[in-house]
Amino acid sequence: MESFSNSRVYLKSRPGADHEPSMENFGHETCPLPPALSSGEVTIKTLYISIDPAMRCRMNDETGVDYINAWQLGETIQGLGGVGEVIESKDTAFSKGDQVQGVMNWPWIKFFNTKTDDKLLPLTKVDAALKSNPQVVLSLFGVTGLTSYLGVKERGNLSPGKNQTFVVSGAAGACGNLAGQIGKLLGAHRVVGICGSDSKCSFLTTQLGFDTALNYKTENSPQRLKETCPEGIDAYFDNVGGTLSEEVIKQMNEGSHVILCGQIAVYNKDVPYPPPISQQMQDIISDRNITRERFLVLHFQDQFGDGIKILQEWYINGKLKVPEYIHEGLGHAGEAFVNMMTSVKQEKVGKQMVNVDS
Ligand SMILES: NC(=O)c1ccc[n+]([C@@H]2O[C@H](COP(=O)([O-])OP(=O)(O)OC[C@H]3O[C@@H](n4cnc5c(N)ncnc54)[C@H](OP(=O)(O)O)[C@@H]3O)[C@@H](O)[C@H]2O)c1
Repeated sequence: MESFSNSRVYLKSRPGADHEPSMENFGHETCPLPPALSSGEVTIKTLYISIDPAMRCRMNDETGVDYINAWQLGETIQGLGGVGEVIESKDTAFSKGDQVQGVMNWPWIKFFNTKTDDKLLPLTKVDAALKSNPQVVLSLFGVTGLTSYLGVKERGNLSPGKNQTFVVSGAAGACGNLAGQIGKLLGAHRVVGICGSDSKCSFLTTQLGFDTALNYKTENSPQRLKETCPEGIDAYFDNVGGTLSEEVIKQMNEGSHVILCGQIAVYNKDVPYPPPISQQMQDIISDRNITRERFLVLHFQDQFGDGIKILQEWYINGKLKVPEYIHEGLGHAGEAFVNMMTSVKQEKVGKQMVNVDS
């Protein structure tokens, strides 16, 4: 390993629970290569890391949720997922050259050692057929794809022939674009996407099979929802929360379903998760018998294996497209995250990830 150099991204400062994060919150520096391996460990070279909104809460002193801890100042950032290559192994179950995937706690560092039985970073080997495409492993066959599939399947109550209208917010993002496509595959009659730019809207309708899309930044969302969902809304994949989601819920039908996936509009605010909703929203939800239960993909781990098989089948048969935006170089990881979490205008469609090896 002498010819390699190592580098990492660490938490330099906290933005404060009520503020947008900034690039200054992240540091990027060279660091020592990992030490010699002990038995039961592997050395991994990180190939790609995933950029996820859920990491925002780890920048605070307290995350406010029980399944992930706050990052400590100076600590190497641990993201939600990564794909890497085993370059040395002292575990007979892993060989040099194996590609591995980890969900939860993948460190933003080029080279690291890990115990193969570490419960904080469980490793799975990447299927040989997918080795040449680690990006799709990180997006479709990682937390993102499983969230989209299991969220729609478990909470959407979609079925063919029911003439249902399905609305997705954050629709050009990683989970949102897949949720819309999966909604169609699971029977939604009409799929409407909401996102933040005209070019994203166009991508959804021309490339991904959404029936229509609206730009919440420039259009009158309540009016456009009325026009595009003339028979009301039967299921809503909610990635954003806030006032936009209130406008969607106001137009939901009796007995309809909210898939409460995420609330990115309030991640830079000091509120609990899920954030409280207004009395008016509570009344609508209860009067119309709308289901709106928090969805957390980690609660469905027993379905991950079957979920991945179905996603693979759709992908291989060309039924699912998997857009991605790749940021080049570990040094850009903090910037990629900050841009995702702030009002910076972005034209990035699909899963955002960093090619660490570039
Ligand atoms: N429940 C679970 O188990 C689970 C698992 C994974 C992810 N999630 C959640 O799913 C959601 C989407 O995550 P992702 O990884 O797919 O991210 P993503 O959608 O790829 O990226 C976030 C996008 O959200 C939009 N956005 C940012 N601030 C916004 C605001 N204030 N209001 C409306 N839209 C805003 C931006 O797109 P625009 O240009 O459209 O504004 C941005 O590109 C997040 O809320 C995340 O926490 C939940």
